[in-house]
This record gives sequence, structure tokens and C-alpha cells, in this order.
Amino acid sequence: MTMVPNIKEPYGKKTCRRLSDLKEYFADRKAVEDILSRDDPVIYEVYEHPVPPEGEHLIFATTVLLPGKVGDEFHFTKGHFHFEPDAAEVIIGVEGAGIVLLQNRAGELRQEQLEASAAVYSPPGWAHRVVNTSNRNLVFLSVCRADVGHDYETIIAKGFARRVVDKGD
Ligand SMILES: [Fe+2]
Repeated sequence: MTMVPNIKEPYGKKTCRRLSDLKEYFADRKAVEDILSRDDPVIYEVYEHPVPPEGEHLIFATTVLLPGKVGDEFHFTKGHFHFEPDAAEVIIGVEGAGIVLLQNRAGELRQEQLEASAAVYSPPGWAHRVVNTSNRNLVFLSVCRADVGHDYETIIAKGFARRVVDKGD
């Protein structure tokens, strides 16, 4: 038995997020352009099990967040709020280590450690972003109601109140 039943074939849907998909999210736009002039590296991949988009069902998706930095900022997932219903989500660490940033619409911020077998709860109304602060893959499972929509626009417009950067320690 494995913690990540949907990461191996056959999985329902695989989404690959490259730097070009996240260029509006990283702070150092010059670093983004420098990297994109040479390559368009994968930042993370999401493997989803297919379920109907209805509230009785649960999305459960496994994400592989690759290690690396853009400028001095560690790789992260885009992060999002949920549209109505702005329901909670559980994020469970499978492999590797990192940080979950949680932020509500009033701008209040929380930070939680994510590691294998650790669960982080993102309450209703809180956006969530995962940051890989390690030098290896960070793998985690996310579970939430299947009828939530994903609000990325608020994050592009306002960002998270904290950025996680490498200062060498
Ligand atoms: Fe979510």
C-alpha cells in the first residue's frame, strides 16, 4: 500500500506547472526572465484522481514540488483561495520537507512545517501555498471538496504576505 495511490499510472489527470506558468508569482522578475531565456523548468506536477465536481466528492491530488530557487526564492505552488464554497483543505506530507503558507482574506498569515506524515489543515477561507525549502522533491497529498473552484487571481493581485527565501541558513 502506498500513500500516493494516484501518482503512478493510471492516474486520471496530470498537470505540469512550469516556470512560464508561474512567472507572475515570483518576486525576482529578472531572474525569471534569465531562466526562461535558457529553459522552462518544471516547478511542480499534480496528479489527480478523477471525481465528479460535486460537493459529495473529494478531490485528492498528489503534488511533486521540485527543489530549486528563482533568484533567492524557493520553488512554491501558485497558491490559491477557494471560491464558494471556500471550504477547508488537508495537506499531508509524503516525502521531503517544506513550509505551508496560509493566509486569509483579511491578510492574516500563518506558517506551518510540512514533512512526511505531517498533516496541515487549511481552514475555510484560507489560501494555501506550499514551499519546498529542501534540496529534494517535496511530495504531498491534498484533499478537499470536489466542488471548490480555485481562485488564483487574488494571489496574483495581492500575493502572500511572506516570501520564503534562501539566505544561506
Ligand atoms: Fe486548495
